[in-house]
Amino acid sequence: MPDHSFKDIDPMRSVFVPLLALLIAVPACNVQAAGDAVAGEKLFYTCTGCHGIAGYKNAYPNYSVPKVGGQSETYLINALKAYQKGDRKHPTMGAQAQSMNDQDIADIAAFLSNVK
Ligand code: HEC
Repeated sequence: MPDHSFKDIDPMRSVFVPLLALLIAVPACNVQAAGDAVAGEKLFYTCTGCHGIAGYKNAYPNYSVPKVGGQSETYLINALKAYQKGDRKHPTMGAQAQSMNDQDIADIAAFLSNVK
């Protein structure tokens, strides 16, 4: 009778070695938190009321809103962090940015930078 026990598989090696490799590889290939464009698209839904393209004007009252789609990821992250810290002052954008965490900002930037 062949022995079907798993004595040849060391559970420490089979689980922890790939996990460790992943933990080392992830920060090495991306300096900032990797943005998830799919999550970013959902987060951006609330922003479309103002950043809704079409002439880049808000529907109400009638002020210009900057084009945010297709900007570079770094540019978008910097802009949102500046509003968040208050370095860049704008009442609505400041309020928007303060409700975000770093991951939200990264996700939104990943989504917007891929919008054509
Ligand atoms: C009430 C309208 C409004 C809403 C809602 C809004 N924005 Fe804005 N946003 C603006 C305006 C107006 C500016 C320009 C402000 C300024 O002059 O600094 C701006 C600026 C920005 C900028 C900087 C653009 C640049 O070129 O410097 C980014 C990035 C941005 N918004 C992203 C977002 C995101 C992401 C959301 C949703 C979480 C959002 N905005 C929601 C009105 C809005």
